[in-house]
Amino acid sequence: MLNLINHPLARHVVTRLRDKTTKPAEFRALCHHLSVMLALEATRDLAMREVAVNTPLEACIGHELMRPLVVVPILRAGLGMVEPIVSLFPDVSIGYIGLERDHATALARSYYCKLPPLAGTRVLVVDPMLATGGSAAQAIDVIKQKGGLEICMLNVVAAPEGVRMIESAHPDVPIYAGALDRGLNERKYILPGLGDFGDRLYGT
Ligand code: PRP
Ligand code: URA
Repeated sequence: MLNLINHPLARHVVTRLRDKTTKPAEFRALCHHLSVMLALEATRDLAMREVAVNTPLEACIGHELMRPLVVVPILRAGLGMVEPIVSLFPDVSIGYIGLERDHATALARSYYCKLPPLAGTRVLVVDPMLATGGSAAQAIDVIKQKGGLEICMLNVVAAPEGVRMIESAHPDVPIYAGALDRGLNERKYILPGLGDFGDRLYGT
């Protein structure tokens, strides 16, 4: 199921990200802001337990997070979404999945995988662009093989093709995105999109 961030700031940030004159420094800051918004949405229903706490004035009951959280960026562009999530959830564990689309076929090739223990965790898979959905579906396959059960996908921009791919391959995985775009061009880039996210993030 696709969940779009319905906030004026998200639309503003996505528009600035789309702008081809936006430089890498601003691009990284915008990516940070949108990642925070996506992570807050994807963790709205995290389990909590009651804890006793003493304020300077009296004792009361508060709440703390129960379920360990794991963030898994799809390298390399997904790395830009990790630090904002660590800033919200300092105890998060981080796994890495390296996938790179072949320029000619748009098929993702795996080149790296290192995941922490996943049993009993909420896993946030982060990748700014959901184009054909091939990279995301492959990453989710691996995470499930390694024991991940409760998985969410976080994207800055999603294409309908990618959303359909995840909905059919992984119907249990909700998608949180900043925008749903029109479609893909013949090179499988998102339109209107924002170009190659990794290149714009890293100035390559
Ligand atoms: C981009 C993007 C996704 C993938 C999306 O990565 O960050 O991982 O393409 O495309 P898909 O939905 O069609 O699989 P890319 O392969 O360009 O690698 P990079 O992050 O190293 O730039
Ligand atoms: N990867 C990107 O960085 N941009 C796209 O539009 C599609 C895949």
